[in-house]
Amino acid sequence: MDKIVVEGGNRLVGKIPISGAKNAALPLLAAALLPTGTSTYKNVPQLADVRTMAKLLRMLGWEVEGTKTLAITAPEGKNRKKLKLEAPYDLVKTMRASVLVLGPLVARYGRARVSLPGGCAIGARPIDQHLKGLQAMGAKVTLDHGYVEVECKRLKGATIMLDVPTVTGCENLLMAAALAKGRTVIENAAREPEVEELALVLNKMGAKIQGAGTAVITIEGVDELSPIEHSIIPDRIEAGTFAVAAAMTRGDVLLEGARAEHLDAVIAKLRAAGVTVAAEAGGVRVRGGGDINAVDIVTQPHPGFPTDMQAQFMVLACTARGQSVIKEMIFENRYMHVPELGRMGADIQISGRVAVVRGGSTLTGASVMATDLRASASLVIAGLVATGKTEVLRVYHLDRGYEAIEKKLKAVGAKIKRVKET
Ligand code: EPZ
Repeated sequence: MDKIVVEGGNRLVGKIPISGAKNAALPLLAAALLPTGTSTYKNVPQLADVRTMAKLLRMLGWEVEGTKTLAITAPEGKNRKKLKLEAPYDLVKTMRASVLVLGPLVARYGRARVSLPGGCAIGARPIDQHLKGLQAMGAKVTLDHGYVEVECKRLKGATIMLDVPTVTGCENLLMAAALAKGRTVIENAAREPEVEELALVLNKMGAKIQGAGTAVITIEGVDELSPIEHSIIPDRIEAGTFAVAAAMTRGDVLLEGARAEHLDAVIAKLRAAGVTVAAEAGGVRVRGGGDINAVDIVTQPHPGFPTDMQAQFMVLACTARGQSVIKEMIFENRYMHVPELGRMGADIQISGRVAVVRGGSTLTGASVMATDLRASASLVIAGLVATGKTEVLRVYHLDRGYEAIEKKLKAVGAKIKRVKET
């Protein structure tokens, strides 16, 4: 297993290109199951999770060609016999977003069998809302031997009130409703930019979706969808991660391609912490100045402060003057970076969902263990400001969601390298 070694102390100065959004690419690849013919995506991030989703589409019978640009072709005509409607456990267990093939397959082929994703490091992460919505649309849902089987000759439009504004749950139901008969209304819908991106692409395919980005989304079902070409939006969480790194190192970085309007809550908190953030022609510019002010964070569904930025902001809080209170309200176990940061000298007390960070302590380099995607990112950026050398082990977690992070950071002045495990 590779590790990343960081020597702290350098300012980050220059331009960092932001890749396509992982959490947009994954639903968009699943959406390519819906139309006939060949759909093409550009600006595809080179990530382990995207490769896993491409592998799943191939297992289902789709042709997936390319890397930065992906051409995805449906199994039709003589290839129709390649069609499979099952996502196996050994693949789903490596990436829970595989559940996103459920909605499209049932909508287009009337059936799907997907391994239940099970829990993951950050929480139980059930899919009850995904299934509740499909049942409301007339599907028969059966759970057996760790798999969920969903069947319905033709889904019917329904009004679905989500108990929680689940992102992938909303995405699954959007894709299912696009080919259902009649109108579907999703209430308490997720408002993330990635949900809006999916709705935009489904509409390019011929779907009739209104209200994406708000809490009420209306979908008029159609009979067939057409292939499209689309370039994926930039990754707001990657951009936010590098913004925190620039702030902590008192740097001056242009996040190339980043869209400020996707980062309102994060930018507001960076500014409250005393960081200069400005939308510019080429992206978003972040300049760290003097001391970092302590700020309090509560993670919420979009447009609130994103849970995927909690670990990174905790590191910023470690370098701030004073005490910050962080509340993780989305996932029940998303503080696994805390003991690792503690090994670097951070002063963080956890009580349930609340973390109290006493800033001002100088972080010192150490060997630390990555446990999940965003925790591992927080350890890398902690290494940028820690005195001495930090080794982040098990960086396969990092490779799921950050494209060439060490190359991007090195290009703006970080002393960082990847050490291949012999
Ligand atoms: C998406 O996960 C993202 N992943 C996550 O990003 C992100 O942290 C999360 O949304 C929240 O923003 C992708 O988009 C691929 P949820 P998702 O369903 O959809 C509960 C990263 O680091 N819930 O919005 O799985 C659930 O337990 C990843 O890039 C139910 O109770 O998250 C959680 O407490 C991590 N029942 C809350 O809702 C359900 O049926 C939010 O989960 C579904 C969810």
